[in-house]
Amino acid sequence: MTRELRGQVAFVTGGSRGIGLAIARALVAEGVHVGITGLNEERLASAREALHGAGPAQVETFNADVRQFDQVKQALGALTARFGGLDIIVNNAAVGIFSSVADMTPEQWSEVITTNLTGAFHVTHAALPHLRERGGGSIINISSLAGTNAFTGGAAYCASKAGLNAFSEVLMQEVRYDNIRVSYVMPGSVATGFAGGDPEKGTDWKIAPEEVADVVMNLLHHDPRSLPSRVELRPSKPLRKS
Ligand SMILES: NC(=O)c1ccc[n+]([C@@H]2O[C@H](COP(=O)([O-])OP(=O)(O)OC[C@H]3O[C@@H](n4cnc5c(N)ncnc54)[C@H](OP(=O)(O)O)[C@@H]3O)[C@@H](O)[C@H]2O)c1
Repeated sequence: MTRELRGQVAFVTGGSRGIGLAIARALVAEGVHVGITGLNEERLASAREALHGAGPAQVETFNADVRQFDQVKQALGALTARFGGLDIIVNNAAVGIFSSVADMTPEQWSEVITTNLTGAFHVTHAALPHLRERGGGSIINISSLAGTNAFTGGAAYCASKAGLNAFSEVLMQEVRYDNIRVSYVMPGSVATGFAGGDPEKGTDWKIAPEEVADVVMNLLHHDPRSLPSRVELRPSKPLRKS
């Protein structure tokens, strides 16, 4: 049995580009009303444009910083007021700053942890009353293989994703009896502009953003009797290290 999503309401952080935009597009295509967040006004506007033609559902954009609890709470309040409730949140917004521990500034450390980890707490904390009011829902956190695979220069990023994994597992146990399903997805390299990268580079072997969106949609459709709580998604054939 797969679950019908049409008419539900979703909140996708960092939905203005990359993986978040692909997830928002897949949701809209299935008739889910979506609110996306981002910081850059131009990118939000072009995402709104792209999503309007993507399916039968409606879209709201919010210039809301996940590092700021009040902004997140306000955006969720506006989304639920517009569409009458909330069923799905996708904690996707993140930044990557890669530097050795010796060279990383306290400000850079804080930016990564506050966006990638505290941001997910902010959104979840503000969303739980709305999900409970609905009698249940889904929370999907976009983590990374970096949460378990450490690499030099990744102290802040790897720690933020390891923290997000632990956060997701605790949350899953806390809210499962309220019919709130928590899963986290750990992709390897995805072809996006993350951390200033070139989204066109490596498209022949990297994961496509749409493939991460497919995983999210499969999680949302999964029979509610069981819960795939953690998904690792790898490129099938990553570049060989020669
Ligand atoms: N790309 C990869 O190789 C890869 C691999 C594994 C996991 N991931 C994870 O996948 C997720 C999405 O990554 P991506 O590759 O799609 O990144 P991306 O293309 O850089 O997009 C990041 C999104 O997050 C938004 N964002 C950043 N800081 C924010 C903040 N403080 N408040 C609200 N929104 C904010 C950005 O908004 P603006 O457009 O306004 O900046 C943008 O919409 C992240 O959690 C990342 O860690 C990515």
